Amino acid sequence: MDRLILTGLDIATMTEGGAPYGMAKGAIGIEGDRVAWVGEAPSGWESADRQDHSGRLATPALIDCHTHIVFGGDRAREFEMRLEGASYEEIARAGGGIVSTVAATRALSEDELVEAALPRLDALIAEGVATVEIKSGYGLTVDDEIKMLRAARRLGALRPVRVVTSWLAAHAVPAEYKGRADAYVEEVAITGMRQAHAEGLIDMVDGFCEGIAFSPDQIGRVFEAARELGLPLKLHAEQLSNLGGAALAARFGAISADHLEHLDADGVAAMKKAGTVAVLLPGAYYFLRETQAPPVGLLREAGVPIAVATDCNPGSSPIASPLLALNMACTFFRLTPEEALAGATRVAARALGLQGETGTIEPGKRADIAIWNVSHPAELAYRIGWNPLNRQYFGGRT
Ligand code: NIG
Ligand code: FE
Repeated sequence: MDRLILTGLDIATMTEGGAPYGMAKGAIGIEGDRVAWVGEAPSGWESADRQDHSGRLATPALIDCHTHIVFGGDRAREFEMRLEGASYEEIARAGGGIVSTVAATRALSEDELVEAALPRLDALIAEGVATVEIKSGYGLTVDDEIKMLRAARRLGALRPVRVVTSWLAAHAVPAEYKGRADAYVEEVAITGMRQAHAEGLIDMVDGFCEGIAFSPDQIGRVFEAARELGLPLKLHAEQLSNLGGAALAARFGAISADHLEHLDADGVAAMKKAGTVAVLLPGAYYFLRETQAPPVGLLREAGVPIAVATDCNPGSSPIASPLLALNMACTFFRLTPEEALAGATRVAARALGLQGETGTIEPGKRADIAIWNVSHPAELAYRIGWNPLNRQYFGGRT
């Protein structure tokens, strides 16, 4: 098997239990697509290829565990309306918001969706991402939701990243089902899920539990059906209000609950008990000018693992910068830079069920590694609008 040694590094392995950031010094040995060792080369590696990275920092490649990068159109006009005083919820109730992106997404072919999403994916990759989750949710018919996930799968074939897909048909009620959300859940969210699953398009199932979207009962029905198919679950919960979505997600054993600005102590306890990861999305908090931050202190105290993602989408977080998400997680939510980086590596892997595979630099893990022109890992969350990525390895390959 091919052997490669990356030398001269400071290494933020992001493994737990040792030094801050799991810091180590020296080299990383890669065999095939896996990390073989960290530190000093064992004997037998004398003839391996070497790449010198003196003065640089290695981290696990970043993982963006919550995005909506496949969509048509934009929402710049809605941004103007919000600046003129309309709220996100008012716009949604007036038939704008998510539903306006639905019209633009339905109008595009699968090819056109891929073409529209590629620059967004490339922006994430340019800042060190090697794994990205991509949701459906702007098609809202069986065929258009499936079209979105096919586009997502193709993105993963066009670039060296790993794409993880989520079925998010329970994202909004489309105009043709206005007043008939229950029928939508049955006929599109659940029926379409079975069809898309049969095509191998779904890795996880997501929903939006909110007054402007779906009730806990309706989400519960989607989750029941997903469970029958053995699909892992996640949920947009407690973003704009508290409907008990996080506790519902936890009851179903969901791997993550996301947003969580309005999460309360009961929700935190339920997540802790179920091992549900809290995915924080500071870009949406910022862009919607929210004032209530997620209860980071309670999450920390309870030991609920915290992930950080961009939520890249046209309406609430038009942000294709994972490094900016790290910065915002620190400035708005008071995460430490170490917590933020763990949130976009080790914990993000867990939020996708990939903790055995990626998210840390340690023997046996896939060699998804980012090399940065920085001397300390806190720099990754510190600067804004400055990309210090030097090089990246996807399963040991550049
Ligand atoms: O994660 N909260 C719901 N879904 C997206 C917003 C989608 C949109 O506004 O287009 C989110 O913020
Ligand atoms: Fe989202």
